Amino acid sequence: MSAEKFVSERIKNIGASGIRKIFDLAATMTDPIDLSMGQPDFKVPDAVKNAAIDAIRNDKNGYTVTYGIPALRERISAMLREKRDWSPETIVTSGVSGGLVITMMACLNPGDEALIVDPYFVSYKHIVTLAGGTPVTVDINDDFTLKREAFEAAITPRTKLILLNSPSNPAGVVFSAAEIQSICELARERDLLIVSDEIYETLSFDGPAASPVQYAPERTVLLGGFGKSHAITGWRMGYAAGPAPVIREMAKVQQFTFVCGPHPAQIATVVALDTDMSEQVEAYRIKRDLIVSELAGSFEFAKPAGGFFLFCKAPPQFETGTAFVEEAIKHNILMVPGSAFSERDTHFRISYAVPNETLKRACEILRPLAG
Ligand SMILES: Cc1ncc(COP(=O)(O)O)c(C=O)c1O
Repeated sequence: MSAEKFVSERIKNIGASGIRKIFDLAATMTDPIDLSMGQPDFKVPDAVKNAAIDAIRNDKNGYTVTYGIPALRERISAMLREKRDWSPETIVTSGVSGGLVITMMACLNPGDEALIVDPYFVSYKHIVTLAGGTPVTVDINDDFTLKREAFEAAITPRTKLILLNSPSNPAGVVFSAAEIQSICELARERDLLIVSDEIYETLSFDGPAASPVQYAPERTVLLGGFGKSHAITGWRMGYAAGPAPVIREMAKVQQFTFVCGPHPAQIATVVALDTDMSEQVEAYRIKRDLIVSELAGSFEFAKPAGGFFLFCKAPPQFETGTAFVEEAIKHNILMVPGSAFSERDTHFRISYAVPNETLKRACEILRPLAG
C-alpha cells in the first residue's frame, strides 16, 4: 500500500519541480559559496538575545492572546503612527508567512483571484492556492517598474486583491511613489484589497520605500516582519495592520491555526524595536554597492534599492536561468534560478547577505561565466 493516497490533491498539485534539480545538485556540493540564502548574515544584537533568554527564564513560555502581547502591539502601533501617520488595527503574526496565510484565508472565497507581480516571492502563489484562491501573475516592465496596463488587463470580476512587495524579493526593487499611487488608484477604482508585504522595509538604501498605506489606507493590509531587519528569521515574528473588519477575521483564523506568535520572541521583539540597526543597514548598503560594481558590465540587472538580492539575467549563451545556475554550481557557487520566482526561466537570484570577501570571490568566479 502506498500512503500517498492519503495526500490531498490541493498539496499534490503544488510542485517544487522547477528547482528540484538544483536542490539535488546543491546536495552534492561539499563547501559551496552559498549565495542562495534568504536571511541576513549579521548577528542578533545581544540586548535582543538577552531579552528572549530572560523571557524564557522568567517563565514567559505559555500562550499569549491571539492578537499578541499588548507591549508589542503598542510598540508596532507607535511605529506605524510615527512612520506612516496611520492608526490601523494590528495583530502579531508568526512571521510574514503567518501573516500571508491568515490574510488569504480570511479574504479569499473559493476561486477569488489574487494578482501577484512576476517575479514574486516563492510562497505567494502557493499560499493563495492553499487558501482556495487563484493566483494570477502580472508582468512588470524589463526595468522592473510596475505596468498599470498589465494590472488592468489581469483584472476580472473574480479579482479580489493585489499583492505587492517592495522592497522586493527576488528583484530587490523599490517601487516609486508614483507607481504605488497608480496601483492604489486602480485598486480604488476596481474596489480591490491591497496586501502589501513590506518585510524588507528597513532595508531600503536610497530613502524610505513608498507604501500603499500612504495612498489607500482604507483598503490595505500591511504585512511587516522582524526576521530580516534583526536577523531573527527563526523566531517567526511578524505583524499585520489594516482595517479592523479584515484584521478581526484574520485574528479568527489565527486563533484556530497558529494560536499566537511565539511568546518569548514577542517579548524580545519589543527590545528589537528599540535597538538601533542603522549600522547593519549601512553594511548591507555597502554590500549592495559592492555587488553592483563587481557585476555591472558583465551581467544585465536592475540596480537593487532594497533587501539583499540581485536578480540577474542569464547571459545569452545560456538558454535558461537554470542552465546558468547549473554551470555556476560546477564552479562551486550556489544560487537560485529565476524559475523559482517567475513564470519565466530567464534570470538567477544572488543573495548578497554574505561576508564582503565571499562576495568578491564569488564575483571573480561569476564574471568569466558571463562570457
Ligand atoms: C518577500 C518575502 N515575504 C515574506 C517572507 C517570509 O518571511 P517570514 O520569515 O517572516 O515568514 C520572505 C522570506 O524570505 C520574503 O522574502
